[in-house]
Amino acid sequence: MEHIALYRKYRPKTFEEVIGQDHITKTLQNQIINGQVGHAYLFTGTRGTGKTSVTKIFAKSVNCLSPVRGSACGECENCKRLAQENDINIIEIDAASNNKVDDIRQIREKVKFMPVGAKYKVYIVDEVHMLSDSAFNALLKTLEEPPSYVIFILATTEVHKLPQTILSRCVRFDFRLVSVDELSKHLAKVFEKEQIKYDAESLKIIASAGEGSVRDTLSIADSIASYCQKDITKEKTLGVLGTTDHDLIINFFDKVQEKDVGGVLSLIDQIEKEGKNLAVFSKDLSKHARNLLICKSCENSSDILSLPDDVFVMYKQQAEKFEEKDLIRYMQVFSSAESELRYTLSVRLLLETTCLTAMLGFDAKKN
Ligand SMILES: Nc1ncnc2c1ncn2[C@@H]1O[C@H](COP(=O)(O)OP(=O)(O)OP(=O)(O)O)[C@@H](O)[C@H]1O
Ligand SMILES: [Mg+2]
Ligand SMILES: [Zn+2]
Repeated sequence: MEHIALYRKYRPKTFEEVIGQDHITKTLQNQIINGQVGHAYLFTGTRGTGKTSVTKIFAKSVNCLSPVRGSACGECENCKRLAQENDINIIEIDAASNNKVDDIRQIREKVKFMPVGAKYKVYIVDEVHMLSDSAFNALLKTLEEPPSYVIFILATTEVHKLPQTILSRCVRFDFRLVSVDELSKHLAKVFEKEQIKYDAESLKIIASAGEGSVRDTLSIADSIASYCQKDITKEKTLGVLGTTDHDLIINFFDKVQEKDVGGVLSLIDQIEKEGKNLAVFSKDLSKHARNLLICKSCENSSDILSLPDDVFVMYKQQAEKFEEKDLIRYMQVFSSAESELRYTLSVRLLLETTCLTAMLGFDAKKN
């Protein structure tokens, strides 16, 4: 049977199922109850905290003919129609791939048409920070005077990249990092539904590793559950997370420094076979590049890093083998891969490409 990633399977479908964002879900529900729905919203906040999910829930709720306490009833004509994917009244635009001015102009053309079998047409512009300058300007014109039946919801992790003119026209909601406590409770429910055994300690370790992102937490839980064959223990959890495996990361960077393509690919293979989470490993890579740069360039590197003495000596020795400019490039390449991780269907392929790109010193996208 095909395995559906936990974070896909457990996408919240109602405001009540969204965790850790009560300040937002309550406000949106109240706006629906009081008939005070706005025409332009901006959802910001760290990745995997519920922006896209809430957008979709809101789009359905505003269109419901008899909402129950601000939530879609699920029974009326509109609810039934909008339950189908690709309903024409909810228009999703991924700005990452439709970032040109023509894409936005097309939206402007279509905005003129009234909704069909719904109260509102809801335009969802995900990753809105990716729009080009001219596309922003085109969007602005639409945001200035939207018809009464149109709602725009813009979502982004990088709000600082948006022009002030856009910001000032939207009602802004900041999605919070979710606390370890809330994440643990959520995980416990998911594990029970999935009939996965776990202990309280592992729950907490996994929830902390997710660093406030619900998606990251579920995706880490996923790889641990499959490694542990649905019986999660603290020892195995720590094994999979393996965040402090200094030998491994040093070995890996040696291969990168030697431009040993085969060596790097086999290490990635080994890491995956050992059941380690490749997404966690990717984060370790940018962290290690940074640590080496600090060893190399800061007088007080040992204070900044506060590592055990023997580990610090190993880092320091390795740092000598690298040039500063290469380390800076590694930091750049690895940390931008971290944000691409969420779009990719194959973490492994992305990790491999990133490492080879970093080693060989060119950006494949620009060549
Ligand atoms: N607040 C939340 N409550 C419950 N589940 C959540 C929450 N946030 C994220 N998730 C889980 O993570 C998955 C992805 O969430 P979503 O797409 O809404 O995040 P996002 O904030 O839009 O992320 P990104 O910034 O990467 O676009 C969901 O399918 C769900 O499993
Ligand atoms: Mg999203
Ligand atoms: Zn309804």
